Amino acid sequence: MKFKGKDIISIRDFTKEEIEKILDEAEKMEAALAKNTNLELLKGKILATLFFEPSTRTRLSFATAMQKLGGNVIGFDNVEATSIAKGESLIDTVRTAEKYCDLIVIRHPKEGSARLAAEISEKPVINAGDGANQHPTQTLLDLYTIRKLKGRIEGLNVALVGDLKYGRVMKSLAYALAMFKANLTLVSPLGLELPEEITKEIIEKFDAEIIQTDNIFSGIKNADVIYVCRIQKERFEDVYEAEKLQKSFKITSQMLEKTKEDVIILHALPKTVEIEPSIDKTKKAKYFEQVYYGIPVRMAIINLVCP
Ligand code: CP
Repeated sequence: MKFKGKDIISIRDFTKEEIEKILDEAEKMEAALAKNTNLELLKGKILATLFFEPSTRTRLSFATAMQKLGGNVIGFDNVEATSIAKGESLIDTVRTAEKYCDLIVIRHPKEGSARLAAEISEKPVINAGDGANQHPTQTLLDLYTIRKLKGRIEGLNVALVGDLKYGRVMKSLAYALAMFKANLTLVSPLGLELPEEITKEIIEKFDAEIIQTDNIFSGIKNADVIYVCRIQKERFEDVYEAEKLQKSFKITSQMLEKTKEDVIILHALPKTVEIEPSIDKTKKAKYFEQVYYGIPVRMAIINLVCP
């Protein structure tokens, strides 16, 4: 396993053993955080966060993780305040940023942009979301959360609920869960199914058995983990259509009453209307605990790949 200098662009860049190694390292980071241990593992190193799309959790948790490791953070989250507003290209922006840092984290609305950045940069590049394509570090923290809260991943019934067509989190996660031999139920409105090439790929590669439905209740009733994502309104051509789906496709407390007693509900966040607000207070809702695990998992990732 060689992590130093590795780009992280897609969850497909990892073997199962490599993912397990990251999760094990994240456990050590979580223990160090709990003890308030002063880690100086990356003292003098600089992480550049280049965010061409909005973010709260990913950008803040990467920055927190780097600082907890003793390193420093530079970057932007408002392209209007950079020379991109003057017409500078992504390529030249990356060529510049790599001269200032040891590691780049990038989020960009175009699919393939992180791969392009990695081809240009001699410093490792981590994809923090490229359009509707991939969000691999979110998947690593999701796997960590599931393993932590359920004790295993293999054999669990996991329902992926929401916009599986445009949700990059779901594309990365479906692949990883199939790799870890979870039982997948894909629950989405008609027309927002996981792209066929991905279901085909995970069936062929991992012999995954997949159930697909547009009925939320039947999709979640036997689940051990319900993973929800919002309708990705910003990726719709017809905003009215997105709003119509937002109103009809949501998890209610009534539905939750009929689910397993020990089911957990996860969400990469931000959430909008897809989970009834009263559910936040129930013991089944674990998404804000999940948010916290972004720190130890990203500490592990940064520490492993930073040269
Ligand atoms: N989970 C996630 O990617 O959240 P942000 O868009 O806030 O970074």
